[in-house]
Amino acid sequence: MKGIASKIAQDPEQLPTDSSESIDGEGKLGNNAYRYYIELSEDREQCPWFFVLGYLSFLIFLVIRFIDLSYGVTYGWSEIVNGTENFGSTHFLGEGHFGKVYRCDFPTSVGAAKIHDHGNQLGDAAEFLAEMRTLQEANHPNVIKLIGKSFGQKKSALVYEFMPNGSLNYHLSAFVSPGLGLQQKTRVLDWKTRMRIAVGVAEALVYLHTGIKTIHRDIKVANVLLDEDFTPKLADFGSAAKFVEIEDGVDPPRRMNPVKGTLGYKAPETEKFGLVSTKSDIYSYGVFLFVLFTGRQAYDLKRPAATVRITDWLRPVWSKEEFIPRVTDPALGNNYSVEGLNSLFQTARMCTDAHASSRPQMVFVKEMVRQAAAFPVPELLPAR
Ligand SMILES: Nc1ncnc2c1ncn2[C@@H]1O[C@H](COP(=O)(O)OP(=O)(O)O)[C@@H](O)[C@H]1O
Ligand SMILES: [Mg+2]
Repeated sequence: MKGIASKIAQDPEQLPTDSSESIDGEGKLGNNAYRYYIELSEDREQCPWFFVLGYLSFLIFLVIRFIDLSYGVTYGWSEIVNGTENFGSTHFLGEGHFGKVYRCDFPTSVGAAKIHDHGNQLGDAAEFLAEMRTLQEANHPNVIKLIGKSFGQKKSALVYEFMPNGSLNYHLSAFVSPGLGLQQKTRVLDWKTRMRIAVGVAEALVYLHTGIKTIHRDIKVANVLLDEDFTPKLADFGSAAKFVEIEDGVDPPRRMNPVKGTLGYKAPETEKFGLVSTKSDIYSYGVFLFVLFTGRQAYDLKRPAATVRITDWLRPVWSKEEFIPRVTDPALGNNYSVEGLNSLFQTARMCTDAHASSRPQMVFVKEMVRQAAAFPVPELLPAR
């Protein structure tokens, strides 16, 4: 197993840009993060002295920039193993590209532990740092809370507040089965709940973009979690990056490699050139709105080639109110406002403009979504 530090020392040119960005900024790490990085570097004794020097300066950099001895709870690794019944299937909550997440039953509380395997790629460790740094700084009702962390010999865990209704994805798509660790059944989300989720995620993004100057980089339904009241919490900050605005809240697009994000949600400038800005988050949010109210996948190879992307699928109809009922999630039945949805689709259409500079900023998007949510749902619509 090669450690992060030795990897960097052996091949400094190979360090992905993204990794260095992830360890930049004012973030902090827990007290065991230092040990975590030392444990990763098992081959350091075979390195020539100048590699060791590189390794040491990297460690000092980490110590200075990130360590916060007081942040959150530091769980013993045995608490994570016991709380998840040794990562048993009955505790499994979900999995993204980073790692598996398990419900963790502590003696007096419940958490959700995302497990990071030390043997994984350098990029994974960078995601671990990015997530920890952003969530230590963030404080918003629509952003998931990081409770603590744990560092074992071969694995580490980030522990979040547990979301009993799991990922929004589970409630929208019949093709995605929730993990056994969830305690609630999935249910069809009604118009009001979907609108509340749309507004909540918009609030989270306004906070990220204007409050803590952070770009999420992977907005999608699978990264929105639901608490017991179906209040949405934005999660998965492994790709998050800080930005610097120039004026009036405008941040210049910058190239970030490797390209992060999810097919169908990724802005065209990100997909083609690796360019990232708050406007690329706004594009993904527009796709998120389309998925939330149509119940369709953002990228679906089962659709004809020209309509694999949800934006292409909707383009012919998204400004024609009379077609709205044809694309609305059938699970909503007749219980929605055609005017409200039309207004919401216009907002999503602006968010997914091919030109990043033409997309509205998140504060305006949030207001438009609020206005769409205010349309009353007619008592009785004629059956479709
Ligand atoms: N706090 C939580 N409570 C309940 N389920 C969670 C929680 N965090 C994550 N999950 C589940 O695990 C999945 C993967 O989590 P995520 O943070 O997106 O990890 P990744 O970085 O691997 O994509 C989510 O889609 C969700 O189903
Ligand atoms: Mg995820």
